[in-house]
Amino acid sequence: MRYINQMKLEFLSIPANVAFARVTVAAFASQLDFTLSDLEEIKVAVSEAVGNSIIHGYENAPDKIVKVYAALTGDTLEVKVEDSGKGIEDVNLALQPAYSTDPERLGLGFVFMQSFMDSLQVESTPGRGTLIKMSKRVGARPARAGAEC
Ligand SMILES: Nc1ncnc2c1ncn2[C@@H]1O[C@H](COP(=O)(O)OP(=O)(O)O)[C@@H](O)[C@H]1O
Ligand SMILES: [Mg+2]
Repeated sequence: MRYINQMKLEFLSIPANVAFARVTVAAFASQLDFTLSDLEEIKVAVSEAVGNSIIHGYENAPDKIVKVYAALTGDTLEVKVEDSGKGIEDVNLALQPAYSTDPERLGLGFVFMQSFMDSLQVESTPGRGTLIKMSKRVGARPARAGAEC
């Protein structure tokens, strides 16, 4: 795959950096012809992934590192969010809507990532960390049942 641009961020696991990461990735993504609504969706997906690394992966410890990588190919944004935190025991379960290991939370983060991006992959090893890979293509529209075009 031919990259036309790529970038990496590394930052401390503090909540203020959720906004830093989402704005930075959206600014980077705006080099492609995404709509404002696409950019808002990208921001939500990045926020959810980075928030998960801080809240779940690092259990709110403020001195850990979250890594975000983004790349632009022809018409597609790829984003990776990585932590070396506690990892996910059962990824399929974690992906279920309304599943959360924290009773105070809604369990919709992965649902947002899946619905706002075109692809989502979760690689996680308990005790080692989690890598989230997402992509979104310019002009892609979610498939609608019964739609003719
Ligand atoms: N980076 C991560 N590290 C460890 N566990 C995670 C991570 N991301 C998600 N999880 C697990 O997956 C569950 C579902 O995540 P999510 O859909 O974002 O819901 P919520 O954050 O509201 O719990 C979390 O409750 C948590 O147990
Ligand atoms: Mg979440």
